[in-house]
Order: sequence, then C-alpha cells, then structure tokens
Amino acid sequence: MTPPPDERTPLDKIRALHQLAVEMIIRLNVILKGARIYEPNNLLFLRQVTRFLTLLRKALAEYGEASMVSRGNTLFFNNVRLKYGFSDYHFFKFVQEEFQKKQLGRITFNPEVTEDDVKTVMIIWAKGDAQAADPFAALSDEATARGVRHVTFDRMLPSDLTKSRKESAAKVFFLGMTHLEEAFESGEGREKISLGTTRRLMQSVFNHISDHESFVQGLTNIKNFHEYTLNHSMNVCILSVALGKRLGLDRNELVDLGISAFFHDFGKLDTPKEILDKPGKLDDREREIIEKHPYQGAGKLVQFKGFENLPVQAIQVAMEHHVKEDMTGYPRYFKKRTVNLFSKIVKIADFFDAVTTPRVYRTKHFTRDEALTLMLAQGRTEFHPVLLREFVKMMGLYPVGSFVGLDTLELALVVENNPDPALLLRPKVKLIADAAGNKREGEVVDLGEVDPETGKFRRTIVKVLDPGKYGIQVADYFLAQAI
Ligand SMILES: [Fe+2]
Ligand SMILES: [Fe+2]
Repeated sequence: MTPPPDERTPLDKIRALHQLAVEMIIRLNVILKGARIYEPNNLLFLRQVTRFLTLLRKALAEYGEASMVSRGNTLFFNNVRLKYGFSDYHFFKFVQEEFQKKQLGRITFNPEVTEDDVKTVMIIWAKGDAQAADPFAALSDEATARGVRHVTFDRMLPSDLTKSRKESAAKVFFLGMTHLEEAFESGEGREKISLGTTRRLMQSVFNHISDHESFVQGLTNIKNFHEYTLNHSMNVCILSVALGKRLGLDRNELVDLGISAFFHDFGKLDTPKEILDKPGKLDDREREIIEKHPYQGAGKLVQFKGFENLPVQAIQVAMEHHVKEDMTGYPRYFKKRTVNLFSKIVKIADFFDAVTTPRVYRTKHFTRDEALTLMLAQGRTEFHPVLLREFVKMMGLYPVGSFVGLDTLELALVVENNPDPALLLRPKVKLIADAAGNKREGEVVDLGEVDPETGKFRRTIVKVLDPGKYGIQVADYFLAQAI
C-alpha cells in the first residue's frame, strides 16, 4: 500500500514522482501520435488528453509544478532524471524526438492549466509545420495566437541536440571493454561477472545503434585501445548488431546476438599472450593451441554463474566463428552439420575487424574498403554470400572511418554513408586537410552536393588512403565529437 504523502521518505517521493512522470511520458507518446491521425474533437483523442490532464493535475497538486525538460538524450520531470527500461525505450525515444523536432528544451504547465490548453498544445506540437525555419518559434507563437495561457516553452540549447547522445554511446563503448575485462580477469572465479549487466549493456548498444548508427560504427575505428581482444570484442559486437539489425532481427534477438558476439573470443583467455602476440608465423604446436580457443570459450561460457541468462547461441558462436561457409576452418566437424546464423554474422564482423587492425605479427593491415574487397574476393567458401552482401552494403563503398583524397586535393574522413543508393560513392565527409596539405578542423560536407553554377558535384573521392601513413588517428575524430 502506498503510505500517506506526509509519511513518505524523500526517496519514496522521488520514486512516486518518477512513476507518475513515466506514465505521463507514455500518455504523451499516445497523444502526440493520436493528434496526427484524429480530428481535434475525436473522442479517443480527447479521452487521452483527459487522462494526461489527470496525471498532470496530480503532479501539480503534489509538487506545485509540472515541467518536462529534454537535455541531450535524457528527459527530466520536475528536475528528476527519468530512467527507462528496455521495454519503455521506444516511448521515450519517440517523445525525445518530438522535443528535438521542435527544438523544445522545456515545457512547463502552470497550475491553472486547462483541458483546452493541453489539447491545443498537443495538436500544434504534433502537427506543426515541419518545414518551419524555426520550429520552436512556430510552436510557441502559434500556441500564443491560439490563446494558450498556462503552458510555457523554452528553447533547446543547440549543443544538447546530438552531443550528449554521442557522449553516451562512447561511454557505452568503453564501459563494454571494462566489463569484458572483468569477465576475462575473473578467470576461475566467474562469479564476478554479472550477465544481467552484460544484457543491459547490449540493450544500450542496440539503442545507440538505432539512434546514431554512423557514429557508433565510427567508434569501431578505435583499435588496440588497451588490449586487443577486449577492443576487438567490442568492435565485433557493434558490427554484428548493426548487421543483424539490417537483416531484420528483432530487438531481443539483437541483444542475444550482441552478447554472443561480445564473448566470441572468450576462449582466448586461456591462450598464452606470447602466442597471441607472436610476430611472424606460428609453428604447428602454436597453431594447435590457438585453434583451441573456440572449445575453450564454449567450455568457459557454460560455467558462468547465471548461465541461464546467456543466450544459447553464445556457446555456438564461441564454437563456430572460425568455421567457414564450406565447413573448413576450425574446429573441424566430421559430421555434416549446419552453422548457426549468429555464428555466420559474427564471422563476418570478426574477419573485418581483425584485418583492419594493425598487429605486430601482420605485415600488412587493410584499409576499410580494401578489407571489403578482400572479403568479396574470398567468395562463398569463406562467408555466407547473402550476409556478406548485406554487410558490404551496410558499410558502403567507403566505410565510415575511411580516409580519402578528394579531387579538390583536400583530405577527408568518411563520417556517414549516403542513404540514397544512387549516391553510394558520395558519403558525408569531414575535411581534415586543405589542398596545400595543412591539417585543419574542416566542416562536414555532403559529397552529393552539386554546385548550382556548374551543375557538377563540388567534390569527388579520387583515392582511399592509409591514415597511418599520414599520422591520422581516425578514432580521435569520432571521440572528439563525444567529449
Ligand atoms: Fe576467434
Ligand atoms: Fe575474434
């Protein structure tokens, strides 16, 4: 039973406020969607407005104020930061996007607010002119013109729009590595790792990929940060989830895929470092040891405490990620069998990340576009052809993080693929050096842009370059956006 208000502790009060606010967000989500479909006097729509108003009045009566704030990727109600679970994520995301579309930073409902005020605001908010040069001014001016007196609006701070989402994505990336390190270090005492945390981490990876796919892909340019296997596992996880999403897997499947990819090399915990990092060719004995890591990984995973939280595919992925499409590779299967879909996805992400990472023992590492060419050349013996085709499409002809030379003699980094298939060769790039070769913090330009005077594209990629040879740290650019 809820205790009477005066007996509640401050923590109880915050919890109650939080619960009320979450209900309001869910209601707001329904109203804003409804306002697009229904006429203003539709009964279903009005009923939702009344419900929202009941919650609003409750908040005003108890707390004397009711204001919602959107900052970056977080919503606040009466200064309390609202946390959401995986199942509420889409409601929150929708409402946040509605705030962003209108560049709305804060909406405040005064105690005198009327049903008409709420109804009018929702209609303007949902239907307002998407083309308006200043969507915030359009919203607040129309509300005033239509007689809304008890609702006020504040403009969103421009820096809030994207930065904090990127900051949070970068945080998840490094948190992932720390979490995996704990798992690796826990060794025999595997109690230390909580698979519940792994699951939440993967939900977060999925959310960030949904919000900012190019940026998150950009983070996979971070190489050899701390330890190779940790960094590699995080990259493989991101690329696998991004590919799975393209293939139409649902959210829960993607979380399972993320966890499976994350632990794919868990068996390397038992491989001696001298062998993992050995420059030059491995001898037969060393190769035999390294080829045990799939068995060892699967064996370790089944010993996890909280094993029931581990998707069954994680064991298969650990076992099968070096099995090729023609069933060669390792471990050898003597009976004909099929390889799990997740293993085939992880195999592609694993190969790509491995060959694009400089390692002491490799005489050459590949640029991102060379890696794709190499993978296509391996053909159907190595990878599943349909999955590979989707992967190549996802990465684009110039994958995010590619370092390119332009016909203007400028140098640039690819930061986002062009969604228009006709413009595959024309991604968005960030200029990082001028025609004279001087490094500079240039702007992001769309290579699909045409010069209206000449009718020709302003800039065109002429060459992909190796950033290492120019002393360019590609990852720094992506991290700079998040810090
Ligand atoms: Fe492996
Ligand atoms: Fe791997």
